[in-house]
Amino acid sequence: MGLIPEDVIQQVIDRTNIVELIASYIPLKKTGGNYKALCPFHNEKTPSFVVTPHKQIFHCFGCHEGGNALGFVMKHERLGFAEAVRLLAGRAGVMIPESDPAVRVKDDLRQRIFQANEAVVEYYHRNLVAGKEPEVKLARDYLKSRSIDLDCVKRFRIGYAYDAWDGAAAELRQKGFSAEEILKSGLVVPREKSQGYYDRFRGRVIFPIFDYRDRALAFGARALKKDDKAKYINSPETVLYTKGQHLYGLNWAKDAIVREDAVIVVEGYMDLIRPVLAGIGNVVASLGTALTVDHVRLIRRYTRNIIMLFDMDTAGQAATLRSLDTLLEEDMNVRVAALADDEDPDSFILKDGAEAFRGRIKQAISLFDFKLSRLTAAHNAHTIEGRAVICQEMLPTIDKIPSEVVRDGYVRELASRLHIPEDAVAKERRRLGGMAVAARPRVEQDHLNSGRAVHQQVSGRKELSPEESLLLKLMLAEPKWVAEARAVILPEDLRDDVIRRIVAKVYEVFDKEKQVGVAALVNLFDDGAVRSIITRLAQDDLVLNDQKRMFADCVRSIKGFSRKAERQRLRDAMSAAEKAGDWDAVRGFQEQFNRIIKG
Ligand code: UTP
Ligand code: MN
Repeated sequence: MGLIPEDVIQQVIDRTNIVELIASYIPLKKTGGNYKALCPFHNEKTPSFVVTPHKQIFHCFGCHEGGNALGFVMKHERLGFAEAVRLLAGRAGVMIPESDPAVRVKDDLRQRIFQANEAVVEYYHRNLVAGKEPEVKLARDYLKSRSIDLDCVKRFRIGYAYDAWDGAAAELRQKGFSAEEILKSGLVVPREKSQGYYDRFRGRVIFPIFDYRDRALAFGARALKKDDKAKYINSPETVLYTKGQHLYGLNWAKDAIVREDAVIVVEGYMDLIRPVLAGIGNVVASLGTALTVDHVRLIRRYTRNIIMLFDMDTAGQAATLRSLDTLLEEDMNVRVAALADDEDPDSFILKDGAEAFRGRIKQAISLFDFKLSRLTAAHNAHTIEGRAVICQEMLPTIDKIPSEVVRDGYVRELASRLHIPEDAVAKERRRLGGMAVAARPRVEQDHLNSGRAVHQQVSGRKELSPEESLLLKLMLAEPKWVAEARAVILPEDLRDDVIRRIVAKVYEVFDKEKQVGVAALVNLFDDGAVRSIITRLAQDDLVLNDQKRMFADCVRSIKGFSRKAERQRLRDAMSAAEKAGDWDAVRGFQEQFNRIIKG
């Protein structure tokens, strides 16, 4: 934090209307002075997500997520703090002066590499569209042989990299990019024996990869000839691009994904381009990797329904299966569509047409059915042993489904499909249940649960002390209670360490500004659990005429507790000093003790 000046952050929050902001992501419904919605951060059927305009905060009573406009954007767009401030600053028209040189350099580098990539997208594209050389002609012929016409080349900004050592690099130098920027773009490879670098992509058709905001992140480069060692060469990881974190085609697909409320996940560049050309727009490509948690979280902004369309060769199946459990744990509704062994979406649509492809998508089967049919193909379900293996393989997958109702449904279905009694399956499930969870590596579990960790932290911790949380609630409701509390209660008087931390901050802010904005306050805490407590306490309004009495009650009981605790502390200190024979100290403690019981 702290890298963008505090007052600028404040300005950004002040100029952002959280209701308008959140309404631009999800539909909000007005209820009284607040707005309600289905929580975008967990799966629910009845709205427990509340936006409070006069405090400029949101809070979900289901998953305990809460915060201000910045917190919402961070969570929803998966941005870092500074990035979120920048996004909101852009919306609100606030200028951000860059103070910290390290941040400035890093941000500038990212910006420069976006610019370098963009320049090179144009350069490669121009080569392909306007180049007159024989090799360009070969590239165009190659694309024609794959039914890619000029319109398509323009739509996906496809390009061509000359078979030369200094094409893209020369272009970048000429556009004024530094050697460092050129190297860090990943577009060149540093020379081993001497200074300098050469073009990474040579003599290949180029597919630029964009992020969901159409910014060029990286490149995939396809060989023209069948016998080339590597069919595709891709950008290495850079400051912009991390393998497994982006989805090819999301920039073109996102509106269609929302419209269809479903996304079709394919593997390759051409597997995305072909359906899109055929009018099926809700497609993204994972580019040859299994689906990662990051992929799923990107997708989840737009839909919960995923249709996996992966090659059904053995590698494809393995990839599909590997990604499946992740999908279930992330609470996605997953179906699997199959094509013939030697087909991919590109070749299938070319051969059988878009309608046949749509048919396959419609026939997509649930993950449960997919896995079960694979297992019944591999093991003989007519034997007891076969059924046992199938059961053991299916149950851990079923147990990853977050919904109890769906899980039970599948257990019943499994029993009926295998012709075994339900309670036998249930028993097996209980037996495996503990094992399946315990056997999962701890790191993986942490990773997968990171989204849920916050609310477990909150709901798992001991209940907040009622009088301390009421006191904080009063302070968040009206600044006058901060002024009054400031005079009688020290943060040290509070037993709950989280409330103590919050109150200390409230005092600090109040001393400076004579008021405490809840939206600004949540900013001061990185810990989601702490933010959640603030937004929850700030959420419900208190009945006005009761406040005075409530405040007095809180103070009395907090002071009572605190005096009791202090007496206990002094008694302990006294007996320790006694044991140590430190009579001066004993006398000192005695005096303090007397002061307290009189006071
Ligand atoms: P495939 O081998 O299925 O290729 O790899 P494809 O997509 O059908 O390619 P075409 O149709 O022959 O052009 C699927 C994806 O895996 C990645 C690419 O993203 C590819 O689209 N891949 C494959 C690589 O990155 N490198 C490779 O050498 C091969
Ligand atoms: Mn293909």
